[in-house]
Amino acid sequence: MNPLTSNNRALAERDLRHLWHPCTQMHDHLSIPMVPIVRGEGAWLIDADGRRYLDGISSWWTNLFGHANPRIGAALKAQLDTLEHVIFAGFTHEPAIELAEQLVRITPPGLDRVFLADNGSAAIEVALKMSFHYWLNQGHGEKTRFIALSGSYHGETLGALSVSDVALYRKTYAPLLLTPILAPSPDAYERETGESPEQFASRRLGELRSLLERHAHETSAVIVEPLVQCAGGMYHPSYLTGLRALCDEFNVHFIADEIAVGFGRTGTLFACEQAGVSPDFMCLSKGLTGGFLPLSAVLTTTQVYEAFYAEYNAGKAFLHSHSYTGNPLACRAALATLQIFRDEPVLERNRALAAHLARRLAPLRDHPNVAEVRQTGMIAAVELVQNQDTRQPFPADERRGLRVYLHGLEHGALLRPLGNVVYFMPPYVVTEAEIDHLVDVAIAGIQHAVRG
Ligand SMILES: Cc1ncc(COP(=O)(O)O)c(C=O)c1O
Repeated sequence: MNPLTSNNRALAERDLRHLWHPCTQMHDHLSIPMVPIVRGEGAWLIDADGRRYLDGISSWWTNLFGHANPRIGAALKAQLDTLEHVIFAGFTHEPAIELAEQLVRITPPGLDRVFLADNGSAAIEVALKMSFHYWLNQGHGEKTRFIALSGSYHGETLGALSVSDVALYRKTYAPLLLTPILAPSPDAYERETGESPEQFASRRLGELRSLLERHAHETSAVIVEPLVQCAGGMYHPSYLTGLRALCDEFNVHFIADEIAVGFGRTGTLFACEQAGVSPDFMCLSKGLTGGFLPLSAVLTTTQVYEAFYAEYNAGKAFLHSHSYTGNPLACRAALATLQIFRDEPVLERNRALAAHLARRLAPLRDHPNVAEVRQTGMIAAVELVQNQDTRQPFPADERRGLRVYLHGLEHGALLRPLGNVVYFMPPYVVTEAEIDHLVDVAIAGIQHAVRG
């Protein structure tokens, strides 16, 4: 493609004149290409010059059944001719009603109420506010704090960022944020030699117990990403079982942020199922609409709902709203996504794909710059380090992950490492041959990135 006549180049130039992109130092685009995508097809993205990229991270972990999925598209087209949006206070519509009924049916027992919002961070805000407000309505306004895990990521609005522990995103805004109580993460990467992930989870539960002994009286909820901390590591399900018991014992809520791990990513429809637990709040988004439209849902219990249910002047209502709450198009996309789960053996297929991904990544375990290859279902991560034995990380300013990203772009794969961790979260429609391509590009990219 002649760069002077390139469609990519023309669109990139127009983009950079006015747009400001998320999670980006815009100065980087002096040297890093901006990639204009004109079309999606299954697991592939196609740019304006016709180059194809395998979407190895499901476009920020949203896409489940492929780009431009025809079934979800058809459901949206039908809804578009009927009702695009309506205020969701005092008014309702069948797509939202149907979606709430289905979510209650498929989530762990006891989650009977559904509050809708527009994106993952908004769902976290809702869960934090609702938890605090529940205790306030019960006469416990002193429960103003939240316990979060080290290495957690829950989004970037002020409340969600408050309970996140990724310095890169958090430290600039720290003066504006709530101060969470940080519990040490059960991330199995941090366990001692000879200690099993389960033993390590149990040790971390002991530390959480100590925190609760000191802070439960002022704590509203413990918030966690079940099984996989997207900006951290992976941990044993027994941590969630223990967490449920501790929350009951100390009278604090358990908020499960399944925004990234929900809808089949970890091998079960919801990650909490692997521990056999029901949280007090479950936050869902990302895959909820198959990656088509922004929508989120917070599920909670009848007990929580009833603490807000009173005659109006009692002042107990949850007066939280977003203009696009319950958007009918987004609800339709979610219903079409759930229909695919019912019609197709998605979890079974994912198990086979996950096993193939594991087989293909296995050789990286011996690489001198790989400290860990970890995987839970359709999420895999490769931790790059300077030295496998000492686990000494690469200095952040060397931006090794960025080299993997750039190598991926040149070789037809969208890989977007977080720091020095190379993630694989492909759409569920990916084939084994496409996984081979993704892993081949990643391995070559890693070789290139760790050099010099
Ligand atoms: C676990 C988790 N929680 C919350 C969020 C925030 O969601 P959103 O980006 O839609 O605000 C994310 C997004 O990456 C996430 O991975």
